[in-house]
Amino acid sequence: MQTQKATAIAHPNIALIKYWGNRDEALRLPANSSLSMNLAALATTTTVEFRSDLNADSVTIDDAEATASARERVIAHLDRVRALASINTKTSVISRNNFPAGTGLASSASAFAALTVAACAAAGLQLSTDALSRLARRGSGSACRSVPGGYVLWDACGADAGDEDDCSFGRTIASPDHWDLRDVIAVVESAHKATGSTEGHMIAGTSPFQAARVASTPERLERCRAAILARDFPALADVIEQDALAMHAVMMTSVPSLLYWRPATLAVMQAVRAWRTDGLAVAFTIDAGPNVHCICPAESSAQVERLIRAIHGVERTLTSGVGQGSRLIPW
Ligand code: DP6
Repeated sequence: MQTQKATAIAHPNIALIKYWGNRDEALRLPANSSLSMNLAALATTTTVEFRSDLNADSVTIDDAEATASARERVIAHLDRVRALASINTKTSVISRNNFPAGTGLASSASAFAALTVAACAAAGLQLSTDALSRLARRGSGSACRSVPGGYVLWDACGADAGDEDDCSFGRTIASPDHWDLRDVIAVVESAHKATGSTEGHMIAGTSPFQAARVASTPERLERCRAAILARDFPALADVIEQDALAMHAVMMTSVPSLLYWRPATLAVMQAVRAWRTDGLAVAFTIDAGPNVHCICPAESSAQVERLIRAIHGVERTLTSGVGQGSRLIPW
C-alpha cells in the first residue's frame, strides 16, 4: 500500500426530484431516479489515514468522537473500501462540517461522498468518478449525487434492471456555471429530526401513495431535466414543488406517519407561492425535515433572503450557489 492518508472535500446536495424509498435496502438501489444540485457554500472535509498502529477504527466528527450509530455506519463503509483494496488495516477518520452550528443541516450526502473519495485515495485505489459515486451510494443514497459536480442525475436503472449495483450512480447533466441558481434555506428548526431518512426509506412502501409517486417520477424527472437544460425557471418551479409535495404526501401517509412540517414551514411555502404570483422567481423544496429550501435565480436571491427573514418562525437563512463535485485536497 503506497498512499496511506488522504483528505477530500464534498458538498451536500439539494434534491429537486426526490429519492424516497429503496427497491433494495442493502445495496441502496432507489425506487426512482432523482436529480439534485450540489451546494457550494456547505462542505464536509474528511481525512482518512490507514494506520498499522491502530487496533480499532477511530472516527471523529466535528471534533467529537462519533456516536455509536454514526461510527457503525462509517466502519461499514470503510469495510467496503478495505475489501476493494484487499487490506485490513484500521483507520483514523477525522471529519468536519462547515455548516454553521445549529442549522439542522447535517448531511449524510457530503459525509459519505468525502469519506469515499478520501478513503479510496488513502487505500491507493484509483477509481473513476462513476465508480466513486456508485460506492458512495452504498454509504448513503444521496451521497452518490455529491460525487460528480453541478446538477446531477442519479439513475435508478429502472426496477426492470433488477438488483444491479453497476448502473446506479450519479452523473452530471449540467456544470455549476450552466445556471447560477441559489438555494436560500429558511431554517425554521435547528434540532435533529425525529426520524431520519434511512428509517423513512424503509417505510415508504407502507403509504398507498408511494407506488403512484414512483410511477409518476420519470415524467417529472424529464420535465425537471429539460427545465434545467433550457434554464426555464417557471417550468422548474412547478415541477420541483410538485415533486417535493408528492414525497411529503408519502411521508405523511406512511405507517408510522412522518409529519416533518412546522407552522413556519407552511408559512414559507405559502409566502413563496404568493411572491411567485407577484412575479418573483422563487420556488420551494423540502427534504426530510422542517426547513424550506427556496430555489431562485442568483438575481432574486437578495430579495428572497430579505423576505424570508421577515417571516415569523424563521430562525435564520443560509444561501448557497451550485457546487462542484467531491475532490481531493492537499493535507
Ligand atoms: C429526503 O440519502 O439521506 O433528502 O440512503 O438512508 O442515507 P440514506 O438516505 P438519504 O435520503 C435522502 C432523502 C431526501 C431526498 C433526496 O435527497 O433525494
